[in-house]
Amino acid sequence: MKEWYEKIRSANSVEDLENIRISIFGKKGILAEQFEKMKAVPNEEKASFAKELNTHKGELTSLFNEQKIIIQTKELQEAMKAEAIDVSLFSTTSRKGALHPVMETMDRIVEYFSSMNFSVETGPMVEDDFHNFEALNLPKYHPARDMQDTFYFKDEMLLRTHTSPVQIRTMLHTKPPIRMIAPGAVFRRDYDLTHTPMFHQVEGLLVDETGKVSFANLKYILEDFLKYMFGDVEVRFRPSFFPFTEPSAEADISCIFCKGEGCRVCSHTGWLEVLGCGIVDPNVFKAVDYEDVSGYAFGLGVERFAMLIHHIGDLRSLFEGDVRLLEQFQ
Ligand code: DAH
Repeated sequence: MKEWYEKIRSANSVEDLENIRISIFGKKGILAEQFEKMKAVPNEEKASFAKELNTHKGELTSLFNEQKIIIQTKELQEAMKAEAIDVSLFSTTSRKGALHPVMETMDRIVEYFSSMNFSVETGPMVEDDFHNFEALNLPKYHPARDMQDTFYFKDEMLLRTHTSPVQIRTMLHTKPPIRMIAPGAVFRRDYDLTHTPMFHQVEGLLVDETGKVSFANLKYILEDFLKYMFGDVEVRFRPSFFPFTEPSAEADISCIFCKGEGCRVCSHTGWLEVLGCGIVDPNVFKAVDYEDVSGYAFGLGVERFAMLIHHIGDLRSLFEGDVRLLEQFQ
């Protein structure tokens, strides 16, 4: 029997151990053989013979189980060593994605106005004449329609030339007061260094009871907003014209490239024009059947903001999908 204990202890692979298990505990194994021998043992010795045999059986079994764990642990460790992975090696295939600079800029603009409790509204890109022009105080044949070169479909439908029609749609289905912005794509027949046929705007509109909205309110929020976007800049308002606002203004920031000294980007004026705004023209309220209200509105081009913030010279490069440009914004 002793040699069987030795055999179990000397096993050094799972396979080895399995062969030993069969030769000890199997149907034709040594234990079965010993029990077979019991038949020949005289009756008075049978009990002690069986007892001894059972003791061996128990001890062999626990030794076998111990050895099995030892071997399995050893084999696992060897396998782990052999198949080790160097986790410090760089992968060559994975590439990190990033938001497009225009979308990232748009998100920041939306984030600012959301924090000021403006809701975010949307409208269709294929618009009708009423929402894009007529209701915004731009009647047919009005010369101001030439300010925006329009893509027309049949039946008076068109690609919206600005996000201002979303003002009209929102007022038509909501009662005042209103505080909204409308971010989205707009379309114009234009293509050069600073114009693409599709670009993005954010429109803003605030409407409340007559006398509650002033140009000072508008000036305050836009100044705060422009400082949020461009950092420590000066802001000035210049009188301008838009059919849907009266009075109208354009907001400029002091040139972020030359700090107002005058450079190529600001055409040596020291100022950069960044948005249009004004007090909502009464004709716009008339078109949506609003009475006894006052409001302000503003509109801006997202690409222009992105170009200024990221120092991008050619607007078209934002739409070419060149990964060498995009990778710089990760
Ligand atoms: N819709 C104008 C444009 O596309 C931008 C704009 C200017 C919107 C002044 C306004 C505004 O709401 O008050 O050029």
